[in-house]
Amino acid sequence: MMKAMNTSLIDMRDIGKTYGGRDVETRALNGIDLRIEKGEFVSFTGPSGCGKSTLLSLIGLLASFTSGRYRFDGLDTAVLDRDARARIRNRRIGFIFQSFNLLSGLTAAENVALPLHRRGNLGPAEIEARVETALEKVGMSHRRRYLPSQLSGGQQQRVAVARALAGRPALVLADEPTGNLDSKNAKKVTALLASLNAEGAAVCLVTHDAGLAAQAPRTVELLDGRMVADQVNRG
Ligand SMILES: Nc1ncnc2c1ncn2[C@@H]1O[C@H](COP(=O)(O)OP(=O)(O)O)[C@@H](O)[C@H]1O
Ligand SMILES: [Mg+2]
Repeated sequence: MMKAMNTSLIDMRDIGKTYGGRDVETRALNGIDLRIEKGEFVSFTGPSGCGKSTLLSLIGLLASFTSGRYRFDGLDTAVLDRDARARIRNRRIGFIFQSFNLLSGLTAAENVALPLHRRGNLGPAEIEARVETALEKVGMSHRRRYLPSQLSGGQQQRVAVARALAGRPALVLADEPTGNLDSKNAKKVTALLASLNAEGAAVCLVTHDAGLAAQAPRTVELLDGRMVADQVNRG
């Protein structure tokens, strides 16, 4: 089946998300209309608790919305089962979190390789080549056999970036990726996100650093679960 050339990568209409609980309900997102094109770089800002992480987890198919409609690259996500969602996450999306989320029992290289093994369609030589290239790109080849605990925070985050880019994702989701880093390492990680974007990946960057947010070509601002601004930044 032909897909229209102008299909948005992300197309959310009137998305709402309520966290349950019998007694207390939290309406984390409300009336979100968001379209992101392939290859775009969008930053998301807003105060703590405004729904940034929730929105990123919905975009990344890590959680389900309560109302509305979400198409990912033209595909209605409401019809996807658990396996189909996991497959899209694994093959099309790279995740980078504030807390790095590396597996502590695996080396840097093994952490980068793991999602590639899970795909089930890449041979060992291809995986090894991708791991090597990715670690080289983030300047971590020389630490390939180190465990996360033997690496600094900045080094761990560069490994997490390598893990994301080794999958050649259409979309990279980064939730406060520089939140635990000193300014020098933060700059490195930010530059790596920009180079991933230059290679064609769409990037969604959550940050409460207004200066960093303004470096993105487009900034979406959230407040109390709603989008209150969606602006183009002049570079
Ligand atoms: N798993 C959860 N269960 C219940 N409430 C949650 C959960 N995750 C987030 N929330 C609530 O949803 C709102 C948005 O949270 P979040 O998306 O984490 O905001 P941000 O990332 O902007 O700080 C907050 O009120 C938060 O307390
Ligand atoms: Mg958050």
